[in-house]
Amino acid sequence: MRVLVVGSGGREHALCWAIAASPLCDKLYCAPGNPGIAASAECVPLAAEDTASLIAFAVSQKIDFVVVGPEGPLVAGLVDKLNAAGIKAFGPNASAARIEGSKGFMKDLLSANKIPTAWYARFTDAKAAKDYVRAKGAPIVVKADGLAAGKGVILCQSLGEAEAAIDSMINDKVFGVAGLELVIEEFMLGEEVSYFALVDGTSVLPFGTAQDHKAVGDGDKGPNTGGMGAYSPAPIVDKAMDERILREIIHPTVRGMAAAGAPFKGILFAGLMICKDGPKVIEFNARFGDPECQTLMMRLKSDILPALIATADGQLATFDLRWKDEVCIVVVMAAKGYPGNYIKGTLIEGLDDAARVEGAFVFHAGTKADTKDGKPIITAHGGRVLGIAATGKTVSEAKRIAYQAVDKVRWPEGFCRRDIGWRAIAREKSNG
Ligand code: AMP
Ligand code: GLY
Repeated sequence: MRVLVVGSGGREHALCWAIAASPLCDKLYCAPGNPGIAASAECVPLAAEDTASLIAFAVSQKIDFVVVGPEGPLVAGLVDKLNAAGIKAFGPNASAARIEGSKGFMKDLLSANKIPTAWYARFTDAKAAKDYVRAKGAPIVVKADGLAAGKGVILCQSLGEAEAAIDSMINDKVFGVAGLELVIEEFMLGEEVSYFALVDGTSVLPFGTAQDHKAVGDGDKGPNTGGMGAYSPAPIVDKAMDERILREIIHPTVRGMAAAGAPFKGILFAGLMICKDGPKVIEFNARFGDPECQTLMMRLKSDILPALIATADGQLATFDLRWKDEVCIVVVMAAKGYPGNYIKGTLIEGLDDAARVEGAFVFHAGTKADTKDGKPIITAHGGRVLGIAATGKTVSEAKRIAYQAVDKVRWPEGFCRRDIGWRAIAREKSNG
């Protein structure tokens, strides 16, 4: 079978790495891919947003199955257009991708189906929004309705901050049209978890849990990022919690989407807050998490490709997956300055040494292949640049191996958090 993966991040590297290992895959392409992906797939220089070119490529190359990584193309309807061209694809159609693409849609869906989440209200008028935050008090959360590259959520500790956030979105349009409508919601306290399930429209196949590290700095300090590291599974989700999440959140969401005429097919990624009174939805994503996906693919024992195809075919009901009895951790290396401004083009060395560390794997994200004095080199080309993953019997063991590999990378203009896994390791220590 001929497969095309769309995207260029660490998530897509993990997907390509796993799909390339499938005996069902005869030929794997990735658009646009990255230098790490090039080891598993033939990279084609088409942007993930360039729908027309992707369709033309898939048709001309007789692609049997397309796996869409990022949310942008899903929300823009890439899967609808591929299906219309007769090509099978993994991922929700545009209507179902609204679960990520519109926070207002998502909150209304949760509310209509009595699924636990933060209380909220939707606004397009700045004055009404400010009256609401004054009535509710701080802390409170102000969110842009649409996709804002992970930056559209402002956790406001004071009323002043909340009013400034409302002004910046509605009056100053800092997120363009994505921020012309707001969701204002309760500030929830608890432990965050990323919960994944393959969904084929009606059936649900749990696909594991992970914990991300959103803040840029050690101790969870500094601004939020796309994710600076993760581990899987999340120890807080024991069997009882897993059953509760499925019963109270995942199944009602899947039923609610079908009832709303937007059955969800793909990977449903629930960002949850485990609060004192139970799990609550922070948000839904219509795609794999990055860097969570890297940890899931490292732990998966079964062939991924039949599972993705069964999802697209509506055949998950009888499907099962096997997982390694190991934990995985991934440490993200980013360009200094990220999530703010950073420079591109800096030289990264030592990647082969890092890859040789037993139990470690180097995932590429924002890297670029270049030449210097006629020799191939790798340079940094984005904010999040590498994900160094490792597996082990415990998070402590996996962490030691991952940082051993991180320390082989010679990249003075890069940085990483040194405390990835701290929460799980504290639990391991307290459990002896
Ligand atoms: P989101 O883009 O919706 O995932 O939000 C980014 C991050 O903001 C989340 O991962 C949480 O850490 C935090 N967050 C979002 N909404 C809330 C909320 N209602 N209460 C507390 N923290 C939140
Ligand atoms: N790591 C969080 C996300 O992919 O949204």
